[in-house]
Amino acid sequence: MMALGLKPGDEVILPSFTYVATAEVIALLGLRPVMADVYPDTFNLDVTKLEQYVGPKTKAIVPVHLFGQSADMEALMAFAAKHNLFVIEDNAQAIGAAYTFSDGSRKMTGTIGHVGATSFFPSKNLGCYGDGGAMMANDDAIAAALRMVANHGQSRQYYHDVVGVNSRLDAIQAAILRIKLRHLDTYNAARRKAADYYDAGFASIPQLKTPVRDPKSTHVFHQYTLRNTDGRRDELREYLMAQGISAMIYYPVPLYKQEAYRNYLNGVELPVKEQLSLEVFSLPIHTELTPDIQDKVIEAVSKFFK
Ligand SMILES: Cc1ncc(COP(=O)(O)O)c(C=O)c1O
Repeated sequence: MMALGLKPGDEVILPSFTYVATAEVIALLGLRPVMADVYPDTFNLDVTKLEQYVGPKTKAIVPVHLFGQSADMEALMAFAAKHNLFVIEDNAQAIGAAYTFSDGSRKMTGTIGHVGATSFFPSKNLGCYGDGGAMMANDDAIAAALRMVANHGQSRQYYHDVVGVNSRLDAIQAAILRIKLRHLDTYNAARRKAADYYDAGFASIPQLKTPVRDPKSTHVFHQYTLRNTDGRRDELREYLMAQGISAMIYYPVPLYKQEAYRNYLNGVELPVKEQLSLEVFSLPIHTELTPDIQDKVIEAVSKFFK
């Protein structure tokens, strides 16, 4: 956002269903985060509701490819072009996912908008051994501006053209990622296989909705997130946790109810996000998950609903 020249007071649209980091960077720069509602099935930005969030100060939109599945990028890019907005993809949870456009062409998430950003935090699909991240851009001028901002605003050593930050990837993390990147597709395939196994295991439980696969996107299952529709989500979570099965709520307090962000809501209603907050829970998923571990999880969940 610094590289794209956004100025204090500018507005940036983002989904209300995301990790705090998406809003944090906007607020830190003195920009205004405008939180938008999401689809109940994919949990990603609802493009049919976006017009209401646009005003004269709107400069960018940040789709988040939540839990490993692409937002509807074709519709989002058209919306952004119509309103002359930058598109900054938050690809922290979906590295390695692909999106298919209506003409059949495919692009990787993070490479569709003007800028893509990702996280290499250890729990991510491509994780390093500490903190790390990367930004992607197709445009050479944007790429140069990103490099400059990330390295103290310098265009060449000790010449600082803009105010920047230290956001370089540590060489040791880069070395680890260089090797792990070769295996990303294998990691993601393992997550998908585990998700398919869960899907089959939960298919006959009417109180659960397993993750929806958007035909336009591959799903890299950063999280395996279900919906519980009979109001027993918290009870189920406690039941599973008591047996040592990690059932997590991403995220327990919605962004617009957080102390630091509640002032930004501006009276806008987010009915879908509000409902999802009560229903979603995520079960363990990672590259080394085995069917016998998953059987235990499926058995425990099934027993709860019997
Ligand atoms: C959607 C989303 N955006 C941004 C981030 C921020 O990543 P980092 O903590 O590496 O800055 C994360 C992960 O933590 C995330 O899940």
